[in-house]
Amino acid sequence: MSSMDSQRRVVSGMRPSGRLHLGHYHGVLKNWVRLQHEYECFFCIVDWHALTTDYESSGEISQNVMSMAVDWLAAGVSPSSATLFIQSQVPEHAELHLLLSMICPLGWLERVPSYKELQQNLQDKNLDTYGFLGYPLLQAADILLYRAGLVPVGADQLPHIEFARDVARRFNHLYGREDDFESKAEAAIRKLGKKTSRLYVSLRKNYQEQGDVEALNTARAVIKEQQTITIGDQERLYGYLEGCGKLLLPEPQALLGEAPKLSGLDGGKMAKSNSNAIYLRDTPTEIEEKIRRMPTDPARVHRSDPGEPTRCPVWQMHLAHSEEAVCQWAEQGCRSAGIGCLECKAPLIDSIKADLAPLQERALDYEQNPDLVRSILAEGAERARDEARETLIDVRQAMGLNYR
Ligand code: TRP
Ligand code: SF4
Repeated sequence: MSSMDSQRRVVSGMRPSGRLHLGHYHGVLKNWVRLQHEYECFFCIVDWHALTTDYESSGEISQNVMSMAVDWLAAGVSPSSATLFIQSQVPEHAELHLLLSMICPLGWLERVPSYKELQQNLQDKNLDTYGFLGYPLLQAADILLYRAGLVPVGADQLPHIEFARDVARRFNHLYGREDDFESKAEAAIRKLGKKTSRLYVSLRKNYQEQGDVEALNTARAVIKEQQTITIGDQERLYGYLEGCGKLLLPEPQALLGEAPKLSGLDGGKMAKSNSNAIYLRDTPTEIEEKIRRMPTDPARVHRSDPGEPTRCPVWQMHLAHSEEAVCQWAEQGCRSAGIGCLECKAPLIDSIKADLAPLQERALDYEQNPDLVRSILAEGAERARDEARETLIDVRQAMGLNYR
């Protein structure tokens, strides 16, 4: 059972936390911008996930969603290359979540590490709720709804992706084979067009009767090239080649980014507070002030004390933003006490300002045109729904809910 085409599809989501900072940019968005040119990408603002923890203060969610959309667009996530949408505008996520909840053992949810951990960390909130327990299942639905093969996430999300794989496997095990698989596969063959379907049939025959692996591979390549048939049909055709059923929900895989996690300006976690991170839309003055106030190697009390860059958060930022030569200059100047800390920070301020300038210009355009942002998201939701509906037709039917 092959699922090569789902390997071309990427899904990821982000909680609408409001304005995004440099950590999001280097850790996530730059990666998405790259992926959108290589894969079919669905990027989802998961407002329902925000509700699982912030249901008592939900008034800010919609504003945060819009603000995050602006930052995505400003960072270069492009509606002509990727599908950007709001989770709650695609109600199919809720239906799949509900259907999967029927087969998801409670123990699986209770065992996801983030469950107890977050409950502990967010003690000021009552997270003894049904919705919060179901957080990973909602995330699994986000992914499986698009039969995506790849999910770009940070390492902290690995347990959630593993969980989504478990759910997919269980679903396939329970409902894997469509009842009328054969006739659906035949119908899919007819959709290929005369020439291609004849080729497919003969390649399949060669493989099945003579074990011709070459023919199998060629047939797969032929299916892979088909742009006009649905992913569901493509999966059927793959399955039919080998004589087995269609894989209803392919198991997704995490795609870990290479970017190291940026720490906060104080060396701790970024964005614990407003002043501990540089936001993509901070003004040049704010950027300058934040960097000037950044703590440095604590052992470097006097200008004449040599410092140790590896103990200094400013150095971390140099590595992410400055050119090789500047990094070397800072490293040597620090260890030899040849430069002072303010001197060291100056080129960093410049390079961050320069990095963010084009992005901020784009952000301004979108900020001044909220209707454009809304229409991008609405269009994205429509595109996402088209795909989501396909999956749900198959899922409902597999689970015995077909009344036509
Ligand atoms: N749980 C993810 C996070 O906190 C967000 C998320 C929701 C997500 N649905 C997703 C990520 C689907 C990837 C795919 O970062
Ligand atoms: Fe940090 Fe630069 Fe000061 Fe060294 S010179 S402690 S790297 S700010």
